[in-house]
Amino acid sequence: MDVVDTIVAFRSRLDDARHHGRHVGLVPTMGYLHEGHVSHMRRSATENDLTAVTIFVNPLQFGANEDLASYPRDLGRDAKLCEGAGVDLIFAPPVEEMYPEPMLTTVSVDEVSQRMEGRARPTHFAGVATVVSKLFNIAGPCRAYFGEKDYQQLAVVRKLARDLSFPVEVIGGPTVRELDGLAMSSRNVYLTGDERAAAPVLHRALQAGVASILSGERSAAAVAELVAGIIAAEPLAELDYAEVVDADTLAPLDRLHTGQEVRLLAAAQLGRPRLLDNLGVRVR
Ligand code: PAF
Repeated sequence: MDVVDTIVAFRSRLDDARHHGRHVGLVPTMGYLHEGHVSHMRRSATENDLTAVTIFVNPLQFGANEDLASYPRDLGRDAKLCEGAGVDLIFAPPVEEMYPEPMLTTVSVDEVSQRMEGRARPTHFAGVATVVSKLFNIAGPCRAYFGEKDYQQLAVVRKLARDLSFPVEVIGGPTVRELDGLAMSSRNVYLTGDERAAAPVLHRALQAGVASILSGERSAAAVAELVAGIIAAEPLAELDYAEVVDADTLAPLDRLHTGQEVRLLAAAQLGRPRLLDNLGVRVR
C-alpha cells in the first residue's frame, strides 16, 4: 500500500490503473478511521481492482466555532487499518495541496442541504459538496463509498454527482454500530463515560419510531414526536431534531402510505459531540 500527498501523484496512479483496465474504488474520509470506514474499504476491495482512501480533514466543512483544530488525527493508525482492509493507495494531502489559494468556487446543493443538519450548520454541506466535487474530479471515474450514518450527506453527494455528471457511482454502506447500538463515528472519542452510556438513546428512539410505523402509525408527526420524546427524556442529551422524511428526496412527510420508503433521522448534542443517527423503513 502506498501513501501519496499530491494531487498529481494521486491522479496519475488512478489514471494508470484505469489505463490497465482496472476498476477504481474510492473511500473519502477525514481519517481517524473506525469499523464503519473499514466496512466501506473491504466492500470496495471486493468490488474493484484498486481501492483508494482519501484522508483529509476538510476545513471548508467546519463552522467557525467547530472542532477543526482538535478533530482527531492519527495517520499511522489509519494506515494500518487501511492496509488490513485491502486498500492499495492512500491520498493524504496537506491543506495547502487541496487549497493552495483562497477558494472562490463553492458547490452547493439546494433543498437537500437546507433542512436538519443544514439548519444547525449552515455552511457545512457546501463545504462537503465542494471537497467531494474536488475529490471526484481528481480521482476520475470510480465507485465511491459513503456511510449511511451521515444520511443527509449521502443524499447531498448523490445529488451533486447526478447534477454535475461526475463519472462516479455513489454507493451508500450501512451504518456500523457498537454492541449497544451507538452508531460508530470518529467524534465518539469526545464522549465522557456518562455520555457514552447515554449515547445509544438515539438508536433506541429511532427503533421505537420504526416499530410504531410497522405497527400501523401513519402520521409522520406522531412518529417524529415519539422519537423526539425518548431522546428529550435523556437528561444528558439536548435534542436538535427528529424527523420522518422521504428516503430519497429527504422531503418532509405528512401521512405515510403503504410501500413508501421513509427515513427517520435524529440529532442531539451530547456533551461535546453532536450525535447523528438514522434508520430506514418501508411502510407496510
Ligand atoms: O464524511 C466525511 O468523512 C466527510 O464529510 C467527507 C465526505 C470525507 C468530506 O470531507
